[in-house]
Formats: sequence, structure tokens, C-alpha cells
Amino acid sequence: MSTVLLTGVGDLGGWALEFLARTPEVDRIVTVKRSPWTGASLTNLAMLGSTFQGHTKQFEHHRLDLADEDAAARLLAEVEPDVILHSATVQSPRVFMNAPIDEGLRAEIRAATFSLWLPWHLLPAALLVRAVERAGVKTRIVNAAFPDVVNEALWKHFGHGPAAGIGNVEVCATAVLRYAMAASGRPADDIGVWLVGSHALMAFGADAAPHRFRLEVEGVDVTADHDLAMILSSWPEPITWSRTDSFALFAASAVKNAAALLRAEPLRTHVTGPMGKPGGYPAFISRDRIDLDLPPGLTVEEAVSLNEAAARLDGIDRIESDGAVVYTPEIRGVMESLGYRCDAVTFEELPHRCRELRGLYTDLVTRGSA
Ligand SMILES: NC(=O)c1ccc[n+]([C@@H]2O[C@H](COP(=O)([O-])OP(=O)(O)OC[C@H]3O[C@@H](n4cnc5c(N)ncnc54)[C@H](OP(=O)(O)O)[C@@H]3O)[C@@H](O)[C@H]2O)c1
Repeated sequence: MSTVLLTGVGDLGGWALEFLARTPEVDRIVTVKRSPWTGASLTNLAMLGSTFQGHTKQFEHHRLDLADEDAAARLLAEVEPDVILHSATVQSPRVFMNAPIDEGLRAEIRAATFSLWLPWHLLPAALLVRAVERAGVKTRIVNAAFPDVVNEALWKHFGHGPAAGIGNVEVCATAVLRYAMAASGRPADDIGVWLVGSHALMAFGADAAPHRFRLEVEGVDVTADHDLAMILSSWPEPITWSRTDSFALFAASAVKNAAALLRAEPLRTHVTGPMGKPGGYPAFISRDRIDLDLPPGLTVEEAVSLNEAAARLDGIDRIESDGAVVYTPEIRGVMESLGYRCDAVTFEELPHRCRELRGLYTDLVTRGSA
């Protein structure tokens, strides 16, 4: 019997729950959430809805605050999940996307990059990894929370961490696949996409963000015939990336990775943060391993340095050997102009940093909507 434990039954987690409920590789779904009612209710709804479609998996919900380290370790030891899909976060990026802030201030906040909010993504993930360690369970984590950066920080800090992340480079690679199918009239099996890149590729586009791209149709290299920057910025249309209220797209990536980690036969895909590497890579995922499938001529070291360079666009200068995430001088300056001073995010300071960011966020929203 395969068990998937899902943390954070929020927007992304809610979609992931529904997809897991219809995923053949999964027999038992255990959800955990801090607040009462919603998580239990969504779990029951997924149980009923999936039954319409002939799925009769086991469902369980537990109320859990990941900050309660004893309770988290106890629950993990009881549940013994084969895979954990982690989507808990202190505050979803959707909240800022949808906040009523004037556009000038919104642009200033965006200039501080997504990494401004890193502690909110890193803290629950760190609590989870520590709980797994304390429970002594053998499991594999798929982390949704800013995996390009968080996975590497966790691996460096704990010496282990998520097997995989979700989304980001995969979203870009999938857009390219569908574009190439439409342009060539060939089915997906005839098309090969290799994309090494990170969150920065989605956020800043292919002209700005370091990446490596290769596209083959029926085994022929057609990379030079296609403009990646154009595909990523304008295909398919219409599509709204910002202010969206739906993370179904990213939840699908998460559930696909969770299912691949339950299967013996490898799945060729793109994966962010595999085994603690920065950014994303083409790879094969299976129950026992994740093997990178890099484009010809690119070594693992080169691919990693390329994603480290891309992370600087996201404001991340480097991640130290203890997992401390050091911001670039440029981003430190932008953060300071917003009234927030932080040179590096360390694990010891995470709870304090999360509280500080709460204060900053409230202050900015009040200022921006005045
Ligand atoms: N990699 C990608 O491509 C990608 C794309 C989209 C989103 N994401 C990431 O996915 C994550 C989830 O986003 P979302 O919009 O789904 O957020 P959300 O709706 O706010 O859901 C997060 C959930 O985390 C729970 N939570 C927070 N702290 C907890 C704790 N200490 N213990 C237990 N549960 C806790 C919250 O539960 P309570 O309300 O009960 O506290 C909430 O339900 C974010 O990190 C986001 O950046 C990644």
C-alpha cells in the first residue's frame, strides 16, 4: 500500500489533494493542516468526488501544526508515508498577487524579488525535514515551496532533504513541448525538450536568465529555429500568470513527481531542486533515484553553475555550507529601501525573520492602499 502525506491543504495543496485522489499509484492519502475544519472538509470532499470516478482510496486528516515538533514527529512515525507532498507555507504568494496595492509600490516590492519572502517558504519546510529526521522514517519529500532555493538550503543544513521540487522549469519546458507540438504537428513522443533553468527563467524570461535549451523534433536538433524567449513570454495566449487564484498547474506537477517517486520505471520529466541542486533540470524520476538527463555537451557542474548564476537574478548570491542563504548586494539595497534589512537568511533566525516579514507585509499593504 502506498501512502502520500500532504502538508498545507491550501490553494496548491487543495488541487494536489484532488489530483492525488485520482492517481492510480496512490492507495492512501493523509492530509495535515494547522487550522480546524477546512483540511478535514476538503479531504472528505476529495474522498466523495473521487469515488464518483471509481477511486476508493483511504483518506485520513490530522490537525497538525508543523511547529509542534513532537506531534509532527509522532504523526510521521505513525503514518510512515512513502512520499510527502509539502505545500505548507507561512503566507502564499497569492496574497500579495491579489493585495490591493498601488502599482508603483507593487513594482518596488517586486524589485526585491520573490526571495524577499524566502523565510516564509523555508521555515515550514525546515520544520518538516526536522520532523522526518526525528521520526526516523524513510520517505521522499516533494517540496512545492520555492524549491529552486529551499531544497538546496535544506540539503546543506540537514545533510538530507526533499528529493524533488515542483513547477518552475517544468512549466517552461511544458510550454515548449506544447508549442513544438503545435508548430510541427508531431505528437509529444516525437519531441525532445531539454531545459536547464530556474525560477528566474519564469520570472525574468529567457533573454535575461541564464539557461541551456535544446529542442529536437523526430531526433533532429531544431533549437536554432525556435526563439525560447518568445515562446516563454507569449505562448500560449491568452494566459494570466499574475494575480491568479488557481495553482492547479503547479499542483499537477507536484502530483506527477510524487507518483513518479512511487513507481519503479523511470519517468522522463523536468524537475526543480532534485536532491538539493539549485534550479531545475531535465531528469528521470523513479522510486529509487533521480538521474539528470542533461543536454549533450553540458556537465552537471556546468548546469549547477548556470542555475547558481540564474539565482542571482532572484537575489540569491550563494547558499553557504550550513544552508544560510546570502542575498546579493543589489537585492539587499532594494529590501532596505522597503524598510527591511537582511543580509542572509539563517536557519537559527527563521522564526524571527518570518515574524519580521509579517510586520513588513502589513506595513507595505497599509502604505500601498492608503
Ligand atoms: N514551485 C512552484 O512552481 C510553485 C507554484 C505555485 C505555488 N508554489 C508554492 O506552494 C506553496 C503553497 O502555496 P499556496 O498558495 O497553496 O499557499 P496557501 O493556500 O496559503 O496554503 C498553505 C497552507 O500551509 C498551511 N500551513 C502554514 N503553516 C503551517 C504549519 N506550521 N503547520 C501546518 N500547516 C501550515 C496553511 O494552513 P493553515 O491555514 O491551517 O495554517 C495553509 O493551508 C507556497 O510556498 C508557494 O510559493 C510553488
